[in-house]
Amino acid sequence: MRVMLKIKRFNPERDREPYWAEYEVEVEPVDRVLDALEYVKWHLDGTLTFRRSCAHGICGSDAMLINGRNRLACKVLVKELGARITVEPLRGFPVIKDLVVDMESFFAKYRAIKPYLINDEPPPETERRQSPEERARFDDTTKCILCAACTTSCPSFWANGEYIGPAAIVNAHRFIFDSRDRGGAERLAILNARMGVWRCRTIFNCVEACPRGIDVTRAIAEVKRALLFSSL
Ligand code: SF4
Ligand code: FES
Repeated sequence: MRVMLKIKRFNPERDREPYWAEYEVEVEPVDRVLDALEYVKWHLDGTLTFRRSCAHGICGSDAMLINGRNRLACKVLVKELGARITVEPLRGFPVIKDLVVDMESFFAKYRAIKPYLINDEPPPETERRQSPEERARFDDTTKCILCAACTTSCPSFWANGEYIGPAAIVNAHRFIFDSRDRGGAERLAILNARMGVWRCRTIFNCVEACPRGIDVTRAIAEVKRALLFSSL
């Protein structure tokens, strides 16, 4: 099938404003948007810039706005989209070039919630043990690939880019509810701040955007509840 790929282009070193470029591409219906972008890059216009690594929905590097929704280009089949496909960079971050955005502010928020196991107690003889039920408590939030699809689809983040955003909360949740971790109170204090979890207005865009199917809003609600009732 032939698709018309309309891509928002911007090279800050050369362009004053972003502009749209259109490319007609012959694809198989089961090709992914990433395949179409690579066709453009290899055969039509080598200056097109986008980011991808695994090409299998694992690394999170090719999140972009596809037909108005945040998706991973390597997970969306062109047959799901029809003959006209628009592709734009994630919103809310500075564009480095074309579809590549500067995600440093996103990763700074991720680092701020201390995304690692905190436990100063002497290590046990064997591993730190955990029951299947204890592990299940944070199973969903272990699936995050830090693609930023949730945060950049969130109206609260659009309204205030300082909001820590759903991705950082999801990753805080992963450790707050880990029975082996002792840093829960520290992380909850960080999320209780002015730009923290209370800026979430339960809009659910994050749930729709998450390519890993994480119930993001539920994770955020559990963090809010833990703050209200100290129920770790
Ligand atoms: S929660 Fe989902 S959408 Fe958000 S960064 Fe993680 S994988 Fe991406
Ligand atoms: S390229 Fe890794 S998630 Fe798409």
